[in-house]
Amino acid sequence: MAMPPAMPSKPSATVPDDIVELEVGAIAAGGGCVARGPDGRVVFVRHSLPGERVRARVTSETTSFLRADAIEVLVPSDDRVDPVCPHAGPGRCGGCDFQHVSLGAQRRLKEDLVAEQLARVGGVDLRVEVEDVGGAPGGLGWRTRVGFAVDSEGVVGFHRHRSHSLEPVASCPIATDAVNAAAVGSIQWPGARQLEVFASPDGGTPVVLVETGKRRLDGLPELEVGLVWKGRTLRSPDHVVVEVLGNRFEVHAGVFWQVHPRAVEVLTRAVLDGLGPRPGERAADLYAGAGLFTVALARAVGPTGVVTAVERSGPAVADLKRNSVGLAQVEVIRADVRPGLVANRIGRPDLVVLDPARSGAGREVLEALCGLDPAPRRMAYVSCEPAPFARDLKILLAAGWRLGSLRAFDLFPMTEHVELVGILERPDR
Ligand SMILES: C[S@@+](CC[C@H](N)C(=O)[O-])C[C@H]1O[C@@H](n2cnc3c(N)ncnc32)[C@H](O)[C@@H]1O
Repeated sequence: MAMPPAMPSKPSATVPDDIVELEVGAIAAGGGCVARGPDGRVVFVRHSLPGERVRARVTSETTSFLRADAIEVLVPSDDRVDPVCPHAGPGRCGGCDFQHVSLGAQRRLKEDLVAEQLARVGGVDLRVEVEDVGGAPGGLGWRTRVGFAVDSEGVVGFHRHRSHSLEPVASCPIATDAVNAAAVGSIQWPGARQLEVFASPDGGTPVVLVETGKRRLDGLPELEVGLVWKGRTLRSPDHVVVEVLGNRFEVHAGVFWQVHPRAVEVLTRAVLDGLGPRPGERAADLYAGAGLFTVALARAVGPTGVVTAVERSGPAVADLKRNSVGLAQVEVIRADVRPGLVANRIGRPDLVVLDPARSGAGREVLEALCGLDPAPRRMAYVSCEPAPFARDLKILLAAGWRLGSLRAFDLFPMTEHVELVGILERPDR
């Protein structure tokens, strides 16, 4: 009896730990490139580059996509380089997405990512150059502030990608020499959960902020560092000092400060150039941190102007007040930036700086700003996250604002991150 023809077999589902061969396509937000897996699902492939053919190990799955690590490169991209960091690679430190990418190609990939988010989320067709800011030869030695994880034995390291397991690390190639010289990985920290090392690019003793699950640390480590624990200074110093364009800033452990040594000057110049503050104008610096833009704006508008700085964190407000001593035109408000505050407490500013946390300012705050009458002359939106920036830009454009300029800076070499400064203008002012 004749047998029926065999049914064409459906490709079986790919599951974690499978090894698959993939043709790699465009970069995607999140540090991987996009490929199509054998079962038809999208695969986000870390440690790969557009145009490569790789063997990859599947690391996780959802119903709609897979994640994988390229473990062997069958056809390499011309942009591929050997990672400088011994901790980079599949299953290792989760910190740097681009250790295997030449610096020029890193910037092109970031340009692709920004253009993609602007188009898809913001509805804006624009490609901007990601500018090299200098100060990090080979993309290394730039992190003035590094957060380390600590395991239950007190060993210091970084979390592996999407994992709680620890890659022990004695020294990090993207950190500054001063951060590495603090040598927090040379000893164990029983009882600590996280450490943050902060070292001024201008010199001085680094400060280590310790987060611990215990009430006390088991003794003070014999390192040449200041130590802060639960807001208490165990050993001085508890802050670093940084000079920016002739202004002196004190920044305490735990208070936000830009991590790249060139960032503070580059961003201050970009904001001032974009806003063009005039003597006597009123400005609002929303999400002001330790006052980086507040002080620069205060000098620019002069004693006849006003700068209203809004910041929610108590320690940041203390630094902000200290950093703006002698500038009577600065008014500091410790509060959340909310629609009611924008409508009622910042006056009618000519200029606004928005430098929110990663999640962006959001619709309600932006609608309150758009409701100010008269409208500000210009706004500067500073962001380290293209997707929320693009979402917020769309809201501002819909309300009649125009994107006067957009600049992108490579403030985070070896990672997919990029800093944006958008200048928004009202055509009617
Ligand atoms: C990205 S930092 C910018 C700080 C400053 N512009 C700088 O460059 O150093 C954002 C700051 O906003 C503060 N912040 C975050 N959400 C806030 C909110 N809803 N209201 C007020 N401040 C907020 C944080 O404490 C942080 O200091």
